[in-house]
Amino acid sequence: MKEELIAGRNDLCPCGSGLKYKRCCMLNQRSPHDLSVADLYLKNYRIKLKTAKDIAGIKKAGKLVVDTLWLAKEFIRPGVTTNDINRLVHEYTIKNGARPAPLNYRGYPKSTCTSVNEVICHGIPSDRVLLEGDIVNVDVTSILEEYYADANMTFFVGECREDAHKIVNIARESLKRALTAVKPDNTIGDIGHEIQRYAEGQGASVVREFIGHGIGKVFHEPPDIPHFGKPHTGITLVPGMVFTIEPMVNLGKRFLRVLDDQWTAVTRDGSLSAQFEQTIVVTENGYEVLTPYDL
Ligand code: MF3
Ligand code: CO
Ligand code: CO
Repeated sequence: MKEELIAGRNDLCPCGSGLKYKRCCMLNQRSPHDLSVADLYLKNYRIKLKTAKDIAGIKKAGKLVVDTLWLAKEFIRPGVTTNDINRLVHEYTIKNGARPAPLNYRGYPKSTCTSVNEVICHGIPSDRVLLEGDIVNVDVTSILEEYYADANMTFFVGECREDAHKIVNIARESLKRALTAVKPDNTIGDIGHEIQRYAEGQGASVVREFIGHGIGKVFHEPPDIPHFGKPHTGITLVPGMVFTIEPMVNLGKRFLRVLDDQWTAVTRDGSLSAQFEQTIVVTENGYEVLTPYDL
């Protein structure tokens, strides 16, 4: 019987692997048309679509992450140091049978990130005392029974000025709008576009250097989720994709500088920055938040 003419032996394999046909689907004796969506996403994008078991595991870790954030919210008041927040997060995580993912991650020295005022992200907990009027983002990632979940919120310390309320509200609303773009057949570009259009429309700016990310049994995995972009561009969303959306928005310009500690990212112009993050899964109808809290 004559072999089906799908591609020349030396052509790129139609499955999108980037390999020659003879080194890919021809070798596997399977038609590229037989590849499941999961196979295609793994081959083409190195995106590991999650099973129901994976999603349940991430969700369980997600509940712990959100409980930890609520605990931090109640704890935060003028006089508390960011080290105090770190200790609270660390101890609560361990007490619940989980591990804090940031600790020793690529040399990161603490169990959570605490980013105050002009700090965009990756603020390292220290003896910095929180003062009335500060805003502080607490970013918690826990590993529970092998699964990671990642979320953050920005909190007010006591009474805050109008500009603090403004940037925190823009960050919160940016994430809320991003979620409306999450459904099968939309693209990753649609997510970024929603954020950029809204935040820039409010006179704020969107940080480019740090982006959302796939997550599962690994802290940061494909795909990248930029918080800016053009509609109908990038990878198409399919059920089972799990990733974070975590827009960082600045009251001034988008540019940043990383401090000598190699972690702390601050706005170049010293303007306030705020962020909210959730871990989500794409479902048949839209999405489900795996670190649920109301935005
Ligand atoms: N939680 C951060 C994120 O949203 C990553 C922190 S990496 C660390 O992706 F090493 F700084 F903890
Ligand atoms: Co994240
Ligand atoms: Co995070």
